[in-house]
Amino acid sequence: MIPKHVAIIMDGNGRWARMRGKERVYGHYEGTESVRACSEFAVEAGIQYLSLFAFSEENWARPEAEVAELMHLMAKSILNERPTFRKNNIRFLVIGNRSRLSEALNRDIDEAMEETAGNTGLTLIVFLSYSGRWDIEQAAERFAAAGAPQGRFSDFLATSGIPDPDLLIRTSGEKRISNFLLWQCAYTEFYFTPAFWPDFRKTEFRQALDDFASRQRRFGKTGEQI
Ligand code: FPP
Repeated sequence: MIPKHVAIIMDGNGRWARMRGKERVYGHYEGTESVRACSEFAVEAGIQYLSLFAFSEENWARPEAEVAELMHLMAKSILNERPTFRKNNIRFLVIGNRSRLSEALNRDIDEAMEETAGNTGLTLIVFLSYSGRWDIEQAAERFAAAGAPQGRFSDFLATSGIPDPDLLIRTSGEKRISNFLLWQCAYTEFYFTPAFWPDFRKTEFRQALDDFASRQRRFGKTGEQI
């Protein structure tokens, strides 16, 4: 079965670059090629939602120059990818604490989101300045402000309207969730690969999907009830 929603923690850009005697940012540049390859593959495979953890709230603590490079890369990628979004019917979304992003980047994001809002193919979600705890906190605040209405708490999360991920992939051999989609991953299947993000392309993505297809998801029920 093809997962409807795949989330990816793109890890290992820095190590990939250092292993080659290069600056860390070189790994981020190469990582954008993996973003492109994986988005294309997601379209081909019929995945409906692809979530990419591009920058966490904690990543603001990285050296200023690296943060600046990452933000520059983000703006450049959004600009470069707009024709591909059009061609592939991709709806582009950014989720996160956008008040921390620059005005210029927010403007580019808004333009790309508006331009692709009517697209009905893959929904590509880039998580920028996001953390799972930030999301739960902002949802709790808005939930309380609305007078704790009846209905679902998850409607107040930044991911409201998006189904929970079926599969979460993390590259580079690390086996943790690092404050990504904490609430949303309650029943998500996890897949860890030693491949660094710049090396994670279509073949590796296909392997992750094959592995997912072999799993039995029970959502708390017994095997016999499925
Ligand atoms: C993790 O590697 C990667 C990031 C923090 C940045 C991810 C960003 C991109 C791939 C670039 C652009 C993204 C989009 C969506 C256009 P790391 O630096 O933590 O690597 P390390 O663990 O080896 O240090």
